[in-house]
Amino acid sequence: MKVLLTGASGFIGGQVASVLTASGHHVLGLDVRPSADRAGPPVTEADIRDAIAMAEHLAGVDVLVHQAARVGLGVDLDDMPGYADTNVTGTAVLLAAAARAGVRRLVLASSMVVYGEGGYACSAHGDVRPGPRTPEDLQAGRFEPRCPDCGAELTHRRVAEDAPPDPRNAYATTKLAQEHLAATWARETGGAAVALRYHNVYGPGMPRDTPYAGVAAIFRSALARGEAPRVFEDGRQRRDFVHVSDVARANMCAVDATAGLPPGTLRAYNVASGRPRTIGDLAVALATACGGPAPVVTGEFRLGDVRHIVATPDRATRELGFTAHTDLTEGVRSLT
Ligand code: UD1
Repeated sequence: MKVLLTGASGFIGGQVASVLTASGHHVLGLDVRPSADRAGPPVTEADIRDAIAMAEHLAGVDVLVHQAARVGLGVDLDDMPGYADTNVTGTAVLLAAAARAGVRRLVLASSMVVYGEGGYACSAHGDVRPGPRTPEDLQAGRFEPRCPDCGAELTHRRVAEDAPPDPRNAYATTKLAQEHLAATWARETGGAAVALRYHNVYGPGMPRDTPYAGVAAIFRSALARGEAPRVFEDGRQRRDFVHVSDVARANMCAVDATAGLPPGTLRAYNVASGRPRTIGDLAVALATACGGPAPVVTGEFRLGDVRHIVATPDRATRELGFTAHTDLTEGVRSLT
C-alpha cells in the first residue's frame, strides 16, 4: 500500500513511519522540518498548507495518514492563530487535495482533548457534565469538579468515543475541527476515515524543554537537568499514558481498518492503555527510573487543564484489533 504520512519526522510520526515500513507499506513521509537523524524512510520537506505541493505528493496514494499538527496546550492566546492555521487550515488544504487526487482512505491523529473534562457521575444526579473549573476554586485547592446541579463531589468515569465533545482550549478546538473536516471529506468523497484519539503519549524521542510538550516530556527534561518533577494541583489528577510504540501500532491497525469501513464514514477510537494513573504516580515512576530527585507537589494549576481524563479502549480492541502492550513502569525505562 502506498501511504502518505504527514508529520513523519515528529515524535509520533517517526515511529508510525518505521512501523508502517516494517509491515510492508511504501511510506512517503512529509514534514515541515524533516530531521536527518531519525531512522526509517526518508522524509521530504513540505508544508501541509501548500496546496500545490500536497497535490504533487498525493498522486497515486492509497492511504493518507495525517499526523502533522501543532501540539501542546499553548502558552497564551497569541498561540491561537498558529494552532488554527496549521491544524485547521492545514488539514483543510490537505483534505481538499486528497479528494482531488482520488485518495479515499484516511487515518487522522486526533486527541482525547476533544472530550474536555472526562465522564463524571453524581450520587444524586447520575451522569453529569461539570463546567470549566474556576480560578477561585483552583486557587483554593478545590481541584475536583463538582456536580453542576448540587455541588456534590463526583466520581470520574472512563470516556467512550460517543461522549459529547467539549474542547476546552485552542488546541483541543482545532483537533475537534480536524475530525469534523475529516468527516465532511469522507461524506463528500465516499471515503473512509479513522480518527485516533491519542491519550497521553510518552516514549523515546519525546520533545524536550518546551512548554508545548506533554507532562511526561516536561518531567523527563527536569530530571535530565537534575531537578525534581513539579507536580501541579495535588498530583491526584488522572490520565492514561500510552507508549509511543503502541500508538504507532494503532496507526497500522487503523490503516488496515480503513479498507473495511462503510464508505462515507469517519469512526473515532480511543488509543489508550486502559490503565489510568495519577500524575503523581507518573512523576514517581519517572524519578525512580531516572534515579533523580523525588517529585514536588506544588499546588500550581493551569486554567486550560482538565482534572481527569481516562478512557475505555474497548472499541479499538473490538474493531481495530488493537490493544496496548506497554505498561507505564516498563515504558518509563525506555526513557532512561
Ligand atoms: C496532553 C497533551 C495534549 C495531547 C494529550 C493526549 C500537551 C500540553 N498536552 O494533554 O496535547 O493531545 O495529552 O496525548 O502536550 N502537569 C504537571 N506538571 C507540569 C506540567 C503538567 O503536573 O510541569 C500536569 C497538568 O496540570 C495536567 C497533567 O500534568 O494535570 C497533564 O498535563 P499535559 O500532559 O500537559 O496535558 P494533557 O491535558 O494531559
